[in-house]
Amino acid sequence: MYSEKVMDHFTNPRNVGEIENADGVGQVGNPKCGDIMKMYLKIDNDMITDVKFKTFGCGSAIATSSMATEMIQGKTVKEVLQLTNKAVAEALDGLPPVKMHCSVLAEQAVKAAIYDYAQKNNLHYEDLDDFN
Ligand code: FES
Ligand code: FES
Repeated sequence: MYSEKVMDHFTNPRNVGEIENADGVGQVGNPKCGDIMKMYLKIDNDMITDVKFKTFGCGSAIATSSMATEMIQGKTVKEVLQLTNKAVAEALDGLPPVKMHCSVLAEQAVKAAIYDYAQKNNLHYEDLDDFN
C-alpha cells in the first residue's frame, strides 16, 4: 500500500525539530482530520538555508513533510512557492488516494512559513496573494 520511500521517510524522517530564531514559522491544521504541522525556515539572501518541522499527524503527513523539507533546502523562495503537494507525493513514488489530503499539510505549512517571513520583512510574493 505504501511505497518504500514513504516508509523510509516515515520511519526515518529528515529535519525533524525546531529552529530557534527562525525567519519564518508556519503552522497549519488539516480540516479533514485535525492533524497539525509546524514548519520552521531559515532564509538567507532569499534562499532556504535550513528547515525543520514538527507534525502531530499521521504517517503520510510525516513522510510528506520530511520529503518536502529535502526538496526545498537550498532553493529560492520563489522556487519553493511553486512546490505542490502533488510534486511531493510524486517524489515519494505516490500516496494512496485516501492519503493525498495529508500531503496538502506539507505544502500549506511551507507556504505559511514563507508568508510569515514575508510579513516580517515587508516582502511581497505574488504567489502568496491568495494565501492567508
Ligand atoms: Fe490522521 Fe487518522 S486522522 S492518522
Ligand atoms: Fe491527517 Fe494524514 S490523516 S494528515
